[in-house]
Amino acid sequence: MASHFGHPAHHYASIDTTMLAAADLARQGCSEGTIVTADEQTAGRGRLGRNWVSRAGLGLYLSLVLRPLVRPYAAPVLTLVAGLAVKEALEGLTGLRCDIRWPNDILVNERKCCGILVEMEAERQQVDHVIVGIGINLNHATFPPDLGDTATSLLIETGKDWSREQVLDPVLRSLESLYDLYLDGGAAPVLEAFQAASSYARGRRVVIEGVPEDCSVPVRGVTAGLNEQGLLMLEDAEGEVVPIVAGSVRPDTGTIEI
Ligand code: BTN
Repeated sequence: MASHFGHPAHHYASIDTTMLAAADLARQGCSEGTIVTADEQTAGRGRLGRNWVSRAGLGLYLSLVLRPLVRPYAAPVLTLVAGLAVKEALEGLTGLRCDIRWPNDILVNERKCCGILVEMEAERQQVDHVIVGIGINLNHATFPPDLGDTATSLLIETGKDWSREQVLDPVLRSLESLYDLYLDGGAAPVLEAFQAASSYARGRRVVIEGVPEDCSVPVRGVTAGLNEQGLLMLEDAEGEVVPIVAGSVRPDTGTIEI
């Protein structure tokens, strides 16, 4: 299939968030593969209502419009597609070994170097469009204290600067090829690839903070693979295996942050 991700491409020097710009284009009927990028975002959005600090020159800030002909319940697998694609692209480009923390944080040496936010609009049991938002930490030399030692960048891990253009192209190619795998083969090959690629998919003792984080009780257990919808299965202390729909996964060190 001819490559169509990245066409058309809209680039902004500064924007609130590429997610809103891409959603506006999608509502106006733009074609699948349309992208929005920015040098900086003034209101970058993360998962679970968090901010994504997006200063100029430090990161790749990308939103991609997809129009899969699937029912809304099938779309969460696309979050896994996006994570797998970024992992493959970054490994090929940098030689680093990346891990995926469900659903789609990309880690290098246990620290997060990329976050992915997937937002969907659906009409009458049919997905209208999906926006895949990708933020990759490129050239941060340090991170603010509130991120502690949880974040990293390609600069920190490789000792080299990375340009947006250098990283964008392989990410788009990898996204397109994994998206085609999903469209051709359905969820099964994606789930299999994810479970092979993520050390978090099975046998990890984790704590999961829910939504909203400040008033829900963290859930603890051992990960037990993904179900057919791509939800993370967790075996709790009683041996019951339950699906996790959303939340923030981290290794269970036995302490609870307050
Ligand atoms: C996360 O919380 O891990 C997801 C972060 C997603 C950030 C990207 S940067 C490009 C796009 N625009 C946004 O405002 N967010 C996503």
